[in-house]
Amino acid sequence: MSTLNLPASGAPDGHLVPAAPQQTASGSPRPAAWVAEAIRAVGLRPGDIGVFLLLDLLLVAGAAVLVLTQQVQHPDAFVWGRRLVNQQRGLLMAAALALSGVAALWGLLALWRDRPRGAAAALVVALLGGLGFAVVLGIDLDSKSARRLMPGERFRPNERYVAAHFGVKLPRRVPGAPTGTQAIAAAAPSASAKREVSATKGRTLYMNTCATCHGVTGEGVVGSGRDLRGNVFVAGLDDAKLVDFLKVGRQPWDPANTTNVQMPPRGGNPTLSDDDLRDIAAYLRTMQPQGVQPSASAEAATGTTPTEGTAGSGQAAPPASPPELLVHRSYIDAGAVGPAGLSPTLAERARRPRWAMPADAASYFEMFLTSVGLQVVHVALAVVLTVVGLVALARNGRPLVWRGVAVLACGAWIWAAGTWFVLGNGVYGWV
Ligand code: HEC
Repeated sequence: MSTLNLPASGAPDGHLVPAAPQQTASGSPRPAAWVAEAIRAVGLRPGDIGVFLLLDLLLVAGAAVLVLTQQVQHPDAFVWGRRLVNQQRGLLMAAALALSGVAALWGLLALWRDRPRGAAAALVVALLGGLGFAVVLGIDLDSKSARRLMPGERFRPNERYVAAHFGVKLPRRVPGAPTGTQAIAAAAPSASAKREVSATKGRTLYMNTCATCHGVTGEGVVGSGRDLRGNVFVAGLDDAKLVDFLKVGRQPWDPANTTNVQMPPRGGNPTLSDDDLRDIAAYLRTMQPQGVQPSASAEAATGTTPTEGTAGSGQAAPPASPPELLVHRSYIDAGAVGPAGLSPTLAERARRPRWAMPADAASYFEMFLTSVGLQVVHVALAVVLTVVGLVALARNGRPLVWRGVAVLACGAWIWAAGTWFVLGNGVYGWV
């Protein structure tokens, strides 16, 4: 600051342009004319600024619309996403930009009173706020990519992170469990074509794995597993979808979960192959009332007890929405949750993606990164304007020049803070 060659702040008249025709009677310039003149002095025409502001406004409006449409199309994504983002860091970023905005306002006031030193100090504070924003954002993005909370294909969130954010305890990983490649080599031959489905074999498997939670006759165990007899959910799924469900189970944080207890993938027993699950599914059918077949009707989807099936037609279409969603929402890997053991399904799993990706949760992070990226553009713009403004203030050649740039810089910070409150609120759901 010592290099500044500025007029004493007590002598405001020194650099004002008295020739300006827009002086009011009291001697203070009218704001609109004052700003217009300042802008002209920088070499910009007011129209240029207008074009810029319009474009930027469209950008922000576009982003806000993006957030809103995502929110309408994937309402659940926002339930998931907002619990997975780091709210504290989001608030820290907002606080940093709020500091910048307030400092910029203060700077505008200082300019208004013709105190370039005060304006320069305010701009430095605003810069520091921007720096704080950038640092917190950098840390946040780094931890997001480490946890693979990334958009689209790269969305493979760390299951322990997810579990921790939903207050769920996962079992410890068992040391000495076979790693992917060893197990695949050992298990490769068994992952072959489908064999005959047998409800009798399914019964044995059920007794060994499922009965602890669902009871020997499927009556359910309070606090452990639901009643599977005459079960609407089971009746609403065709065989393939039922097996899909058994593969992934239902996590306590799944919106469809009714008990806050985990239905573990493969019943917690990763040694159950897909064929075994088909046997179990066949056995579950024997617990359903006679004649109830996988039903394509809306009854099953809405939870009404299906009375008579679309009798006997084995190729009934799978019901519309719920089963699909269930399978996509549960994405804990079977091997990670179950007891250690050589899984015959490992070879099969190696060929499939490890996670059944919930499409809506992935799109949340797409929107998150878009909003943040846009905000980075705003902050970068404010930084550039501030540096130019500070240089102009330091040179103090023509007062209107420094004043014009400094006004723009202050405005940019206020704008950046404002946009973050709009976008950040959409992303984090503060209000
Ligand atoms: C550790 C206990 C546990 C084990 C073992 C277990 N389940 Fe479950 N299961 C649950 C819980 C808890 C639920 C209910 C989840 C919820 O709240 O929506 C459930 C739900 C289900 C449902 C959906 C029922 C409904 O009405 O939504 C089916 C079907 C099911 N289990 C089948 C099985 C089969 C088949 C096995 C064996 C391979 C098995 N479960 C093993 C705990 C268990």
